[in-house]
Amino acid sequence: MTGRFITFEGIDGAGKSTHIERVAQHLRERGGSLVQTREPGGTTLAESLRTLFLHQDMDGLTEALLVFAARRDHVQRVIAPALALGQTVLCDRFTDASFAYQGGGRGMDWQVLQTLAGWVQQGREPDLTFWFDVDPQVAAQRRAQAREADRLEQLDLDFFTRVRAAYARRAEEAPMRFVRIDAGDSIDGVGRQVLQALEDRGW
Ligand code: TYD
Repeated sequence: MTGRFITFEGIDGAGKSTHIERVAQHLRERGGSLVQTREPGGTTLAESLRTLFLHQDMDGLTEALLVFAARRDHVQRVIAPALALGQTVLCDRFTDASFAYQGGGRGMDWQVLQTLAGWVQQGREPDLTFWFDVDPQVAAQRRAQAREADRLEQLDLDFFTRVRAAYARRAEEAPMRFVRIDAGDSIDGVGRQVLQALEDRGW
């Protein structure tokens, strides 16, 4: 039996972190064995690439090559082995983020990203993707209150509007896998939407 692969997506400031914890708690209460991880990152090598990615200036193609290199290591060492053991993998961002940020945000060619995804994922897609969708203006206000911005978080409203549109395109391309969460709702409201989606699947 192969485990479930659940990913969490959205623009910076959408508020997904709190809800990843809640999903983990919900699934643990039901007795599941869980792996919680993130991208870029999740292995020693991929975390090193994450540091470079977040703090060095580079063009869109270099970004894409770095995040997919990190993903390759992560899939091979962590995600695929956990799923093979029947564990549930909760991953904070995955390939949809590359389509959204490098594709939508940086204008990288969609087909090039599809080729990279095909090489790296070998046909393995998430079983469920929560897309925390929020107005980029609301997200910017939340970010300003929450923390010091990293390189990508400093980008402007136009950038995040393009990222959001690319998430919408990914959701249209894979409607069975995506669940759109209205992340402009209160924390409790968002939590209810997330739990409902799990309960709809009997998870
Ligand atoms: P995230 O972990 O959400 O940042 P934080 O810990 O600050 O909440 O994501 C890190 C950044 O990397 C985020 O701005 C999105 C970006 N990113 C890409 O541009 N492409 C990718 O493929 C991934 C996975 C992330």
